[in-house]
Order: sequence, then structure tokens, then C-alpha cells
Amino acid sequence: MPKLIVTTREGVESVVEGAEGVSVMEVIRDSGFDELLALCGGCCSCATCHVYVDPDSAGSLPPLSEDENDLLDSSDHRQERSRLSCQLRFSQALEGLRVTIAPED
Ligand code: FES
Repeated sequence: MPKLIVTTREGVESVVEGAEGVSVMEVIRDSGFDELLALCGGCCSCATCHVYVDPDSAGSLPPLSEDENDLLDSSDHRQERSRLSCQLRFSQALEGLRVTIAPED
């Protein structure tokens, strides 16, 4: 299974594995990172799955949808490399993707 590298808000880095076809949010949540709340369950309506994507990996990601872009605008912590992890489908193409869980709004 492809690997995902997750950094927590405290700066602790972990390497986890995720199934292809699920979302990056699900990989993070199912690996036991409680600080990623993902309150809406992946419906693109809460922004509590906000992560920062490592710039080296950003090129392999799909572009932002309008809904994702609007929702990210509601976050006080939006940055250039912000994404909603529920909107990123995990696959072998994202092997080694590095994400950092964004601060809570
Ligand atoms: S889980 Fe709610 S927007 Fe991603």
C-alpha cells in the first residue's frame, strides 16, 4: 500500500500506509490521528480536515474545486499549500505524499 507521511500540529512525523481509492482524510483518520476531526465525514462542508501539503508533492494533486476553494477561505489558517484532505483521493501516484495537519479554526 502507498505510504503517506503525516506531521501532527505538535510537529511529530509518522509514516502510515493507506488503501488506494480512499481519501487522504480517511487514511489520516483511520491511522489514529484524532486531531483531524473531519466532522462532515468527507462531504466538503466543514473544513476540519484541513492539511498543508508539502510543496514537493503538490504537483501530483488534482486542482482545487470551487467548493474546496470556498471552504478553505473560511479558515483563518489558509496558506498557499492548503487542501482539504477529504477531497484528495489516495493512490499509488501519491506515494510518499507529505501532509501537515493545519491548526484548528
Ligand atoms: S471532512 Fe469535512 S470538509 Fe473534509
